[in-house]
Amino acid sequence: MNTSFRIGVLGSGKGSNFAAIAEAVAAGKIPAEMAVVLSDVESAGILTHARNRSIPARFIPPGKFRTKLDEVAERAFVSALQTAQVDLVVLAGFMRVLKGDFLRAYEGRIVNIHPSLLPCFPGLESWRQALDHGVKVAGCTVHFVDAGVDSGAIIGQSAVPVLDEDTPESLHQRIHAAEHELYPQCVAALARNEISVVGRRVIWKKS
Ligand code: GAR
Repeated sequence: MNTSFRIGVLGSGKGSNFAAIAEAVAAGKIPAEMAVVLSDVESAGILTHARNRSIPARFIPPGKFRTKLDEVAERAFVSALQTAQVDLVVLAGFMRVLKGDFLRAYEGRIVNIHPSLLPCFPGLESWRQALDHGVKVAGCTVHFVDAGVDSGAIIGQSAVPVLDEDTPESLHQRIHAAEHELYPQCVAALARNEISVVGRRVIWKKS
C-alpha cells in the first residue's frame, strides 16, 4: 500500500511547471511522490521531462474533440490516475477542459494554474488579453478545477508588473517565472493538508 501523498500531472506542452514541481519534490520541499505524468500530445516536452526524471509518463490519445477529451480518452486518463493511486491531479498546461466523469472521480482534488489574475482573462493567451486590455498588473492563479472554465476556488495568486515596453512574449515569460514559484508552494500546502475550503474561499492553515 502507498502511504505517501501521490501526485499525477497532466500537461500538453513544455512542462516547465511540472519541472518546477518535480524539483521541489526532489528537494524535499513538497512531501509527496510524483506518481505519473499523462499527456494528450505525444510529442509534449512534459513527457520527456518526466522520463528524464524516471517518472512514469504516458501519452493518451485525446479522441475526436479539439477542446475536451472524448469518453474513451476520459476513461483512459481516469484509469491511469487510479492505477497510479493518485491523491491530487495537477494540471500543468493541460489544454483541454475536464468534464463530468473525470471531475466526479477526483472531486475537489484537481488543481490548475492559469496565466492571469483570475477572474480576469480566463481562456486562451491570457497574457495577450492582459496587454490588449492595458492592465498594469498581471500574474498567475492556482485554483481548484470545477465544471466551468478557469472558474474554481482560488488557492493562490502571484502578481507581476506589466511594463510599457512589454511584448506578449516578454510578459508571458515574466508570468511563467512567477508560476514556477507559486505552483510548488500551493502543491506543498495541499500535500501537507494545510488547505481548507469554505464556500469559494480557500483558507491556508498556519503550519
Ligand atoms: C502555463 O503558462 C500555464 O499557466 C498555461 O500553460 C502554460 C504551460 O507551460 N496554462 C493555461 O493556459 C491553461 N488554461 P508549461 O508547459 O511550461 O508548464
